[in-house]
Amino acid sequence: ADQRTQLKERIKQLLVEREAVLVAHYYVDADLQDLAEETGGCVSDSLEMARFGRDHAAKTLIVAGVRFMGETAKILSPEKRILMPDLDATCSLDLGCPVDEFTAFCDQHPDRTVVVYANTSAAVKARADWMVTSSIGLDIVKHLHAQGKKILWAPDKHLGGYIQKETGADMLLWQGSCLVHDEFKGVELDLLKEQYPHAKVLVHPESPANVVALADVVGSTTQIINAAVEMDADTFIVATDNGILHKMQAAAPGKRFIVAPTAGNSATCKSCAHCPWMAMNGLQNLADLLENMDSRGTIAAHEVFVDPAIGKQAVTSINRMLDFAA
Ligand code: 13P
Ligand code: SF4
Repeated sequence: ADQRTQLKERIKQLLVEREAVLVAHYYVDADLQDLAEETGGCVSDSLEMARFGRDHAAKTLIVAGVRFMGETAKILSPEKRILMPDLDATCSLDLGCPVDEFTAFCDQHPDRTVVVYANTSAAVKARADWMVTSSIGLDIVKHLHAQGKKILWAPDKHLGGYIQKETGADMLLWQGSCLVHDEFKGVELDLLKEQYPHAKVLVHPESPANVVALADVVGSTTQIINAAVEMDADTFIVATDNGILHKMQAAAPGKRFIVAPTAGNSATCKSCAHCPWMAMNGLQNLADLLENMDSRGTIAAHEVFVDPAIGKQAVTSINRMLDFAA
């Protein structure tokens, strides 16, 4: 514990010295989430991370999350320096939607409005009309559907399928998935619900349809944390990355949280339901990054770059969402 405390103290000091601000996602290491909160940064869902990074005055943002989050921050603030503890932290949705194939798919369907999930590369966002996150995708597609628009959706088939079902919109879906949420199992969840008949089920919409079907609340990470606080229940079954439990427990003390069952694992498995790329962010690599920030080599290994021409196109699709959310 003491090495952790020392590292945390050192990071706090370095953030001040380097005039950098830490923006963290709910799926990263609990210490990093606490640090972000305690140092005037933020810990939040992808929508709020984007907004916070854009609006903060700091010239250097440290994004503790995955690559697309760093890229979104860079696209929104090209003049800022965006650093990440590990640039190899990617996402199966981003990996499963290469820009060439995606562009060909869009070109085959020129009559459709292209809506992409935040979990994509800058180049994919540049080809899209709209970018959405899980907290607002449903509302945006509802809005487009009301205008009579037909949608091409990428890359998450589960989130796309859920939005399609809720809105009745005409949606053509790319077939990607999140390797963490894809593992949640409907049949086992149903059995678990029988064991805890009073438990409420909170589900992230990247989960398969038969899991979403059992949910009391479906929403982004922030939305399901809020639900845990607000709902009148003492036990919750949670179908999302288990990194979220840290904040949930702090925000709703005294309530009980159980991770939903995943393939081949018991409901209490500690190592399942956790994103391997989010897990690449740690106290040590964050401290090393801050410590060595003056060296060119260190910066090069941690700085997020987006081709300015691509960034210029991608910002339109991101700003549509941010303007809609405002
Ligand atoms: P939100 O935090 O926007 O719900 O996104 C979840 C996610 O997949 C991040 O990887
Ligand atoms: Fe991507 Fe899933 Fe990891 Fe989120 S949890 S970053 S969607 S692989």
